[in-house]
Amino acid sequence: MDMIKRPRRLRGSEVLRKMVRETRMDKSSLIYPLFVKEGTGIKEEIPSMPNQYRYSLDVLPEKLAELADAGVTSVMLFGIPDVKDPVGSGAYAEDGIVQKALRAAKAEVPDLYYITDVCMCEYTSHGHCGVLCGSEVNNDETLKLLAKTALSHVQAGADMVAPSDMMDGRVLAIRNTLDDNGFQNIPVMSYAVKYASAFYGPFREAAGSAPSFGDRKSYQMDFHNSREGIREAMLDVEEGADIIMVKPAMSFLDMVTKVRDVVSVPVAAYSVSGEYAMVKAAAARGWIDEERIICEMAASVYRAGAQIYLTYYAEELARFMDEGRIG
Ligand code: PBG
Repeated sequence: MDMIKRPRRLRGSEVLRKMVRETRMDKSSLIYPLFVKEGTGIKEEIPSMPNQYRYSLDVLPEKLAELADAGVTSVMLFGIPDVKDPVGSGAYAEDGIVQKALRAAKAEVPDLYYITDVCMCEYTSHGHCGVLCGSEVNNDETLKLLAKTALSHVQAGADMVAPSDMMDGRVLAIRNTLDDNGFQNIPVMSYAVKYASAFYGPFREAAGSAPSFGDRKSYQMDFHNSREGIREAMLDVEEGADIIMVKPAMSFLDMVTKVRDVVSVPVAAYSVSGEYAMVKAAAARGWIDEERIICEMAASVYRAGAQIYLTYYAEELARFMDEGRIG
């Protein structure tokens, strides 16, 4: 046999396979999303997201400490308010749920890094990501409220803000407001390449944030498009975004790679609720091996070019990285 090139040669042992691994992962790049709500003594499982919970603020620190113990260094907070109104007042209220959660969390578990999702949909009675004018979301009016929301998060202790609303110009509006108030050093991670996706279904159940009429297609992107995503990413970088996110992850890994090629800021990918729910549902039936599947999903995100990974499986992945199963 005159074959001198044998790719299998480098697959012969665990030591060798690890030596030639092309993708290295680190726990410090994981971000864990979690839901906070009003009340006391609440740890409520989200029906379509087994093992993910809504926490009241007295129960929250216990979870945060557990994450910190596992080596997860960063969380993304989502708020579930008790009352909603047409202008989403709870999003920017000084005693809003996220603002209160930040103060409690920072006091109890100060070592974690706190990122907040900046959006209106959990707080508006109609469930859209901005204020309405008739049945349309009014872009420019919404910018003022998003900037106000981001500022109130930072004043309550947020280390980074992450706008997820997909209004045009929101990164600049937030950047200017933070800067005017002396927060030049707080980074903005933009959900820049965010598709109108059915993968958010379980999240909307978790947060009670499904739109009461219509859909989000006039602000989130059409999933057929990729050049539009590049444009969104580049615009947000021009507006001052420090990190660009692609979301969802699994069906949009091509975008992670493409965005990484055109921007020089770090790129994040978010494995969203529907990705989590699919894995959980299939695993519950014994149809897939959950642990191996989530390892492959994580590696695919980093392999595609993401430097940061937002996932409901952050704790499990941190453990697998410690054990040397991945990374
Ligand atoms: C708020 C927001 C959503 C998600 C993150 N921020 C929901 C949406 O846009 O409908 C989805 C996260 C997930 O599905 O895990 N706009």
